[in-house]
Amino acid sequence: MAAINYTDKIPNNVNLANDRTLQRALEHWQPHFLDWWQHLGPSDFQKADVYLRTATSVDADGWATYGAVKMPQYRWGIFLADPVADRKIGFGDNMGQPAWQQVPGEFRSTLRRLIVTQGDTEPASVEQQRLLGHTCPSLYDLRNLFQVNVEEGRHLWAMVYLLHAYFGRDGREEAEELLARHSGDANKPRILTTFNEPIGDWLSFYCFTYFTDRDGKYQLKSLAESAFDPLSRTCRFMLTEEAHHMFVGETGIGRVVKRTLEVMKELGTEDPARIRTAGAVDLPLLQKYLNFWCSSSLDLFGSEVSSNSASNFANGLKGRPDESRYEDHVLRAAQYQLETPQGAEEVPMLNALNEVMRESYLKDCEIGLKRWNRAIERAGYSLRLQLPSPHFRRSIGAWVDAPVTPEGKIVSREEYDKRLREWIPSAEDRAFVRSLMQRVVEPGKMAGWVAPPERGINNLPVEYEYVKLSS
Ligand SMILES: [Fe+2]
Ligand SMILES: [Fe+2]
Repeated sequence: MAAINYTDKIPNNVNLANDRTLQRALEHWQPHFLDWWQHLGPSDFQKADVYLRTATSVDADGWATYGAVKMPQYRWGIFLADPVADRKIGFGDNMGQPAWQQVPGEFRSTLRRLIVTQGDTEPASVEQQRLLGHTCPSLYDLRNLFQVNVEEGRHLWAMVYLLHAYFGRDGREEAEELLARHSGDANKPRILTTFNEPIGDWLSFYCFTYFTDRDGKYQLKSLAESAFDPLSRTCRFMLTEEAHHMFVGETGIGRVVKRTLEVMKELGTEDPARIRTAGAVDLPLLQKYLNFWCSSSLDLFGSEVSSNSASNFANGLKGRPDESRYEDHVLRAAQYQLETPQGAEEVPMLNALNEVMRESYLKDCEIGLKRWNRAIERAGYSLRLQLPSPHFRRSIGAWVDAPVTPEGKIVSREEYDKRLREWIPSAEDRAFVRSLMQRVVEPGKMAGWVAPPERGINNLPVEYEYVKLSS
């Protein structure tokens, strides 16, 4: 695939110049996007020089170049992974037939809905995070926040391209709506609940990038399997960018754990109150944040039993993440043992695909937990961080509102209500975390509640001035 031409108004590798109508439509949308970025993107910092990576090709290695950029000048563009020659549909009732280069009429509205729902989360997260820059724990973190933000902006471009290129006038209208809904807006909120919760502190930001961006990864992986080839190629390239967002989450939480362990060692205590007085995040408090963000992200996969996910799979619109790892790609005969509050229930596998996806997501979530727990173990402490039970604090599906502890035990409603504040951050906990959020912008300096990263960005030292504020 040729390198991307950055003199184009909209950088792209989809030959936009050959389709004047599409090019004009996207050039018409572009100022609306920039306007949205100015008003609802990161608050302030628009004049700062940020050390950002920009996609410059879609090759597996060396796909991005790094340099100082003012965010509004970031080159948001349209990049699809290279086509796979003769790609065939890999699952569902049409398995083995050629992948679609156009949208089949009968799936038009369902595909549009899938693309809009994915697209809506991208700008939503930028809106949720817009105030974080003011309380950054370091320039390194500030840069990572902005890197994530500009790339979520690019993911919006990715979905808007599909809407414009393949869905005609409805697609163009949906593209406008993606800029008209806003996170937390009483009248026009974002589509999914998790994306309407503000991310007011950096511990939440690390948890969001760990848990919620990982939901994004699993959604993209399942859409990358789609029979609709342009969607598949778009999502495959988005996944390349997404990996960094989860890196920010995993290393962010890891650095919090590391700093807390240092403070515990220095003070010779595990007492949360003393650790808090010393300005660090005690591990039980971190556990509450993990419980909150994990349970909230689990809801994003939808109900355990879903006829929509069954037909999306059967029709080839949305597969399972890493579909090729499975043996049966049709699932017409398979059954699934579903756990419900009333006991085990056998359901057709096709209807349980949200649950299958949730299970593989949770496995992926375990990786960070193992790493953080190893650090705790090495420091000689017996506490272990855990993922909450997938039945804890669910707001949709079979376990909706069931009084289940983070360990997965069903308790009385009364006990649940009483103990919930032990399990997720209370108002006091949040106020304490907010009190830690003091802005640190001296190159190489870190806030007291988080350890420095092991290395800087792109082989630069940690002390590098990743964001030049005065320019
Ligand atoms: Fe994204
Ligand atoms: Fe992301």
